[in-house]
Amino acid sequence: MNRIFSGVQPTGNLHLGNYLGAIRNFVRLQHDYECIYCVVDQHAITMWQEPAELRRATREVAAAFIAAGVDAKKQIVFNQSAVPAHSQLAWIFNCVARMGWLNRMTQFKEKAGKDRENASAGLYVYPNLMAADILAYKATHVPVGEDQKQHLELTRDIAQKFNNDFSVPDFFPLTEPLILGEATRVMSLRDGSKKMSKSDPSDYSRINLTDDADAIALKIRKAKTDPLPMPATEAEAETRPEVDNLLGIYAALSDRQRSDILAEFAGREFSAFKKALTDLAVEKLGPINADMKRLLADPGYVDQVLKDGATRARAIADEVYDIVGFLRP
Ligand code: TYM
Repeated sequence: MNRIFSGVQPTGNLHLGNYLGAIRNFVRLQHDYECIYCVVDQHAITMWQEPAELRRATREVAAAFIAAGVDAKKQIVFNQSAVPAHSQLAWIFNCVARMGWLNRMTQFKEKAGKDRENASAGLYVYPNLMAADILAYKATHVPVGEDQKQHLELTRDIAQKFNNDFSVPDFFPLTEPLILGEATRVMSLRDGSKKMSKSDPSDYSRINLTDDADAIALKIRKAKTDPLPMPATEAEAETRPEVDNLLGIYAALSDRQRSDILAEFAGREFSAFKKALTDLAVEKLGPINADMKRLLADPGYVDQVLKDGATRARAIADEVYDIVGFLRP
């Protein structure tokens, strides 16, 4: 059986990268798979979160899933901390994963920065909790953006070692990442060498899912480019990182090939392309933005979706404890 699991952290500022790299694919895949979509609040607290803001952001991510088109009646939408199996299995994986494996994780190095001694222990074992999220449901496929690839490789290593150590050869599946579409790594609008990120101090670096049409237009207008007109070929676009990023965003939002878009805009003023991109982004993101607002005006509804999702998730995640030898009298 094929099952999808994926998660998004409720750390504020959900952006276009989260949408194109992940959430939009959650919606597209739900017709072919049984899907479990999680707001990973326990991952969020590996860095400090204001409790009231964490609650707000948790609802916001759930609302974004639903507003983007996830069918919460058919699929499971819930928040991680409501299902104890995640942290229980993560503890087991803390004892399966090796220090050497975790030491290679680039996300830890990026997030801990120079002051590694002062990073939380949770941030260090973050990938083990992520493996637990996925494997608690024996998910076979995980839609994510490119930045999560290394974590999914670790998830496979953990699954394999667990299966070997406990002589249960096929217990955990070797999960496949699904990194889909033209925008698997959306870059900052201010710097084409940096990933678009929730934590970038400049709000102009990203298009938030909560931005209205005026904010989207302003951010695209101010997006960094160069004085040259639109390139004619993909190879030429690749030498201009900010241009290449906007082209990828256009391709993803319009479901068209980059080459097709270049054929339309080659040699034209960059401002004409930005204008078309603004119209496209407003057309695609506007309805999601409006629906998120509507959902968040009634937190009771979102809370009910999360509660119902957690009940259904809990019923799936178990079994592993007998294998490890935990007595459950
Ligand atoms: P998070 O919350 O940082 O991001 C959520 C999803 O958005 C994708 N993404 C991007 N895609 C394209 N361009 C970008 N600039 C960009 N920024 C983010 C991410 O790849 C991700 O798919 N560790 C995960 C959350 C997680 C998880 C899981 C994911 C926890 N447990 C289990 C999958 C399965 C994270 O921090 O995502």
